[in-house]
Amino acid sequence: MMLNWKPDKHSSIPLHKQIVDYMKEKIMMGEWTVGSKIPTQRKLAAAFNVNRSTVVTALEELKAEGLIEGRSGGGTKVINNTWSLMTLAPPPNWNAYVEAGIHPPNLPTIQEINRAEFDPAFIRLGTGELSPELIPVAFMGQIIGQSYNRLPQLGYEEPKGSIRLREQLSSYLRAKGIYASPSSILIVSGALQALQLISLGILHKGSTILLEKPSYLNSLHVFQSAGMNLEGVPMDEDGIKASLIPHYKKSHAGALLYTIPSFHNPTGAVMSLERRMQLLEVCRNEQLPIIEDDVYGDLWLDEKGPEPLKAFDQSGSVLYLGSLSKTVSPGLRIGWVVGPEAVISRLADIKMQTDYGSSSLSQWVAAEWFSTGLYEEHLTQVREQLKERRQIALQTLNRHFSEIAEWNEPKGGFYIWLRILPKINTRELFKKAMEHGILLNPGNVYDVHASQFLRISYSYASASDLEKGLQLLSTIIKKR
Ligand SMILES: Cc1ncc(COP(=O)(O)O)c(C=O)c1O
Repeated sequence: MMLNWKPDKHSSIPLHKQIVDYMKEKIMMGEWTVGSKIPTQRKLAAAFNVNRSTVVTALEELKAEGLIEGRSGGGTKVINNTWSLMTLAPPPNWNAYVEAGIHPPNLPTIQEINRAEFDPAFIRLGTGELSPELIPVAFMGQIIGQSYNRLPQLGYEEPKGSIRLREQLSSYLRAKGIYASPSSILIVSGALQALQLISLGILHKGSTILLEKPSYLNSLHVFQSAGMNLEGVPMDEDGIKASLIPHYKKSHAGALLYTIPSFHNPTGAVMSLERRMQLLEVCRNEQLPIIEDDVYGDLWLDEKGPEPLKAFDQSGSVLYLGSLSKTVSPGLRIGWVVGPEAVISRLADIKMQTDYGSSSLSQWVAAEWFSTGLYEEHLTQVREQLKERRQIALQTLNRHFSEIAEWNEPKGGFYIWLRILPKINTRELFKKAMEHGILLNPGNVYDVHASQFLRISYSYASASDLEKGLQLLSTIIKKR
């Protein structure tokens, strides 16, 4: 090994670093090949005209990077010269980390939907969100503009969330027949976060959540990621079959029931009043707590539906969820959970450990929506518009799907649960529709056995896209 080089003692680069760079370059350029013996520390120090300690530091660095290896008695050798090792120590194997993560990934179809939703070229026939035309941007501007001079500190809020918003919610809920003082309300960043907090805060690993079959909850892994299972209970036109619950609870060790009684996602069904009463009684007898997800409750289109389960709950068995996502704006990320104080405090404590509370700006804006009365005013407009869209969707279905599908006529919310009569391959239909610029929400996302179903939403696509998209979809299905 020729050593006719010396570090520059006037350079700002430390001597040991210059030596490392020099030796790396030798190895990298193939001049010092794998297996080459490195001269002794003494020889190197002499050749480079530096202290031995400087050489030791440089060799340690090269060893740490995996380029050379020193064996007692056997001298030091070059052991690697790959490019990846030249630049840095080998990078961590992130793929192995990603696969080891506790939270399961989204279903592949959901991942595809989530990506495609931001491509404006698609007509979105299944999206469960208000259309941009229905998001009350003008009211929002009015609220924010008027509040500007009265904005609070915008520091962290107390654990259960802004007291002003909780007071507003308390009176809003009163009008639904729900008695909830502010101390039994927790503000969350959307109803989905409430589910996350419940899964982490009050359930054992291995518990089973009973739920409607199909259900929105099957499209996520909120409970599964906390080590729980979901078990679907059949529904009929009146909602979940309450009489089957004792059997399901026993055979699956059910710990809790999750239900969407009003304008169910994905079927659009409304649980009848009789069924609500029966469900409450069955759950009371079974000592089975209920999560009532009422995020669509205010979106009745023909007449007010039955009161929430929570309105009849005197024993504190129901945890009630609401949100501004489906009525005002999902981007605000404001929801609430109502329940016994002990549970709410527990969930609030976990929320503090998770994110220190939802955005105080969003909470302020949400409180303004209620206190100004704009929420009710806006709901009246949204109902009108959703009614029109529902009509267009149903008319288009009648015109183009009567031979090939069956469906319900929803009384509110966003969804039509479309059963396709000819046998379809869900994956193929999803892909073919995408090729034609249509984004679908296939039924098997909500129930693995619902492969003949599609969740159609009349809330998102514009009226003309709704018509055009549905017509095109019927052609695709007929041509299969
Ligand atoms: C039944 C149901 N619950 C909860 C959510 C999530 O709502 P948020 O945006 O309030 O988290 C949705 C959204 O699709 C939903 O359909």
